[in-house]
Amino acid sequence: MANKGNFVKGVLKRKAWDLPESEVTPESVFKSRRQIIKALGLGAAGASLSTSAQAGLFDVFSDKKADDAFKVSPLTFTKNEKYQTSEILTPETKVTTHNNFFEFGTSKADPVNNAQGFDVEPWKLVVDGEVETPLTLGYDDLFKLAALEERTYRLRCVEAWSMVIPWVGFSLANIIKKANPTSKAKYVAFETLHDPSQMPGQRNRFVGGGIHYPYVEGLTLSEALNDLSFLAVGLYGKTLPPQNGAPIRLVVPWKYGFKSIKSIVRIRLTDKKPPTSWNQLASHEYGFYANVNPEVDHPRWSQASERRIGAGGLFSAKRIPTLPFNGYGDEVASLYTGLDLRKNF
Ligand code: MTE
Repeated sequence: MANKGNFVKGVLKRKAWDLPESEVTPESVFKSRRQIIKALGLGAAGASLSTSAQAGLFDVFSDKKADDAFKVSPLTFTKNEKYQTSEILTPETKVTTHNNFFEFGTSKADPVNNAQGFDVEPWKLVVDGEVETPLTLGYDDLFKLAALEERTYRLRCVEAWSMVIPWVGFSLANIIKKANPTSKAKYVAFETLHDPSQMPGQRNRFVGGGIHYPYVEGLTLSEALNDLSFLAVGLYGKTLPPQNGAPIRLVVPWKYGFKSIKSIVRIRLTDKKPPTSWNQLASHEYGFYANVNPEVDHPRWSQASERRIGAGGLFSAKRIPTLPFNGYGDEVASLYTGLDLRKNF
């Protein structure tokens, strides 16, 4: 993405599965990070510091390192046969170790390394704005809002890699309907927890990739009410680990992965199009709609194909053609009738 700077590499311990950044992202993206470092004013400052001084400058994770892995619990759910696939699932170890969650750092291994001490209990999720019945939900409520179901969806990141993931949760429409939208509601805005004491990326702009936190996202109301829009509370049959967005995250499988906002604390219905984090950072590169579209390239790389992450990770990932709407056109193309998807990218 625009500025996924791997600024802290070299001062963190590298694990076997912690891929070099050059393997994870297209070369053009990797190279652009140098420009971002420069833009953040770090180039000259960083270069003039000794290695140990640089390590001190970036040693922002150490106070929140947890010794024990975050505990996930098994969930009870039924399989939704409508949303299964014959495609090979991405192994759980890859789904939970190759992540984008900039609040915990910008390299793929940062979230699993830095989020294990993340507290999800108590949790508060508020649903408000243009609704007749505002909701305030605690941790346990998240698992009782609707019968939990498993759906296997493809996740296509804007960086041109993809996974196939069995999520557990329920349609977003369930929660929206419970809140009774008013006739003014046209959009749905989402917000991630803002807690710099737990999220190193929120207290250090180098670690957090320059995003203005809290991370925010949005959908039109009709997108949000589409049956595919899903609130996940689990994956692979268990509650979500923090690196994947515990305790509750959005999954919108026909859009680029950055729309699938993690660790949600607020869902607000509005009459105006809400701001979205990546669009705020680079509006010419990341649009509001962000529908997966092989015909509309990112300004700096092609979106025609993707690397499907399997057992071998990115090193051996097969390149496959990208499908319009990530293969979910039958379900969602009608939402965009008459809209120029080149302009509204
Ligand atoms: N949500 C928050 N709050 N912060 C993030 O940095 N990254 C997004 C999205 N949701 C992100 C986020 C991006 S770019 C992607 S591709 C997906 O999460 C990745 O989800 P995963 O790590 O579970 O595969």
